[in-house]
Amino acid sequence: MAYTVPFVNAREHYRRYKTEFENAIVTTLANGDLVMRQQLRDFEQQLAEFCGVSHAVGVASGYHALHLSLLAAGVKAGDEVITVAHTFVATISAIVHCGATPVLVEVGDDYNMIPAAFEEAITPRTRAVIPVHLNGRLCDMGAIMSVARKHNLIVVEDAAQSLGATVDGEKAGSFGATGCFSFYPFKILGCFGDGGAITTNDPEIAKAITRLRYNGEDRQTGEYHFHGYTALLDNVQAAVLSVKLAHLPRWIEHRRTIAGRYHERLAGVGDLRLPKYDDDRFADAFQNYVIRTRKRDALRKHLTDSGVETLVHWPKPVWEHKALELTNPGLSNTESICREVVSLPMSAETTDEQVDAVAEAIRRFFA
Ligand SMILES: Cc1ncc(COP(=O)(O)O)c(C=O)c1O
Repeated sequence: MAYTVPFVNAREHYRRYKTEFENAIVTTLANGDLVMRQQLRDFEQQLAEFCGVSHAVGVASGYHALHLSLLAAGVKAGDEVITVAHTFVATISAIVHCGATPVLVEVGDDYNMIPAAFEEAITPRTRAVIPVHLNGRLCDMGAIMSVARKHNLIVVEDAAQSLGATVDGEKAGSFGATGCFSFYPFKILGCFGDGGAITTNDPEIAKAITRLRYNGEDRQTGEYHFHGYTALLDNVQAAVLSVKLAHLPRWIEHRRTIAGRYHERLAGVGDLRLPKYDDDRFADAFQNYVIRTRKRDALRKHLTDSGVETLVHWPKPVWEHKALELTNPGLSNTESICREVVSLPMSAETTDEQVDAVAEAIRRFFA
């Protein structure tokens, strides 16, 4: 159906920046700059500066950023890696594809890892932790980093949904051994296909991932250092990402304004639980605006009937997908989140009028 309020509006996004996108693409193609050229190096430098770190390495997707980070950190068969169950499956698959065992822990009402649950799950086999900064909000990184330091664990941040978000003024991707970003088209910073990057302050990790993404080869010497992967960020995507990165601070501001407007219009309606604003250490980037209600399925149907497109991340706990062969970790908050969350339309193109229409439809439902 044609929604009157779409979840995101890719056509409008393209229309607004068409000239800049097309200039970047045509120049790159006309120069024959297809693989690992200046556009990729420029984007990597701009991303590192944006995140406040010394290195960024472009890779083929957010999944590859996670997988190659774990490999660079030496995670292998027999190791355990702690993460949350309330995440996109790629976080967990990256662990499994290293031969390691994912240990899934509970999230709090901010949808992010509970630091105490992380600490309780540590065993002698634990090698690393992947805190996932979900929906554009950072995990409590002060607490997570201090547990990780105490137990000598590697921290790989899954920042796929949180580019530009901060806690205590520090950006996503600047805390752990690496930060992992996704440029899937509907992310805060999206390219025109798949793309991703890692950020790090460790030149050795940056070097290892630069080799891992190119089949293990050191491009300077031609030496293969290990069996790697074909997992580059395409040069033409990097050119587009540079254009978009220059607009990103304004887009994030817009998302915050939209979130503030939802908050104003939805506070106190029905049994709705809205994203929290009561801790000013956090500045969220609002990849998603997620609300929670026990009447989620009925509300969602009502919104669809009213022309409002919504999404649910994710309707069932990941361990219920039997083929993935994950042990049921018995996480009751994760289970109720799966039953109760719905994400409202949110993008750099979402308008005040659209927010008002969505809020009005929600108020009608609860009236
Ligand atoms: C939390 C999280 N982790 C990892 C990923 C994987 O990123 P990609 O789709 O670029 O592989 C995503 C993206 O969907 C994500 O939302």
